[in-house]
Amino acid sequence: MSADDQKRISGEAAAELVEAGMVVGLGTGSTAAWFVKALAARKLDIRGVPTSEATANLARELGIPLATLDDVKSIDLTVDGADEVGPGLSLIKGGGAALLREKLVWEASKRCVVIADAAKKVDHLGKFPLPIEVVRFGHVHTGHRLADIAAEFELLPPRLRMAERGVVVTDGGNVIYDLPSGVIAEPAALGAALKTVTGVVDHGLFLDLADEALLGTDQGVVKLVP
Ligand code: A5P
Repeated sequence: MSADDQKRISGEAAAELVEAGMVVGLGTGSTAAWFVKALAARKLDIRGVPTSEATANLARELGIPLATLDDVKSIDLTVDGADEVGPGLSLIKGGGAALLREKLVWEASKRCVVIADAAKKVDHLGKFPLPIEVVRFGHVHTGHRLADIAAEFELLPPRLRMAERGVVVTDGGNVIYDLPSGVIAEPAALGAALKTVTGVVDHGLFLDLADEALLGTDQGVVKLVP
């Protein structure tokens, strides 16, 4: 089964968790897009809270009624992808530059389900460079401070994320620095250290947030819990 098929079956399995009347957090990325498509096909009476403009556009095209995070008191269920799924369902997210809205929506959710293809499951976080969202003003200076923290953790300096058309800018108008880690030995300590830097909005370590994972594998969808 291709990775995309694994993403599809995990998204479809997650769509089955949704019940009429729910407020549903809609994740970002290629796996979350499969979830949004499968959810739309069920034509349930729900409201979706999108985690990016891209997901909002997809959901609108498919006829899912949307609300903003501030329109709702809480979110019943959020379903989202991940770049890495590590021990205890610790995650790296933000490969799609949506980590800030994703984390805000996850933290407002009663239940968070991560969906992914089998290759996303890792023994240690860090092979995927850790995305860090940084305000644009003075971001080069902030990047230097991030490099100092990286050195304290014996990691390489972070790199400003670029695309063909120039610097990647998030939905919130910020930039992304990607920290190539190899192995993140102490995710909680690294996350806390990054948050001390003025100019850092947030980072892609999602720790103690996922309640379960639905992993698409060649043998079908496998459920993992922390
Ligand atoms: C978006 O910023 C990310 O957190 C995505 O959820 C993550 O990059 C997974 O994307 P794919 O489902 O496309 O692999």
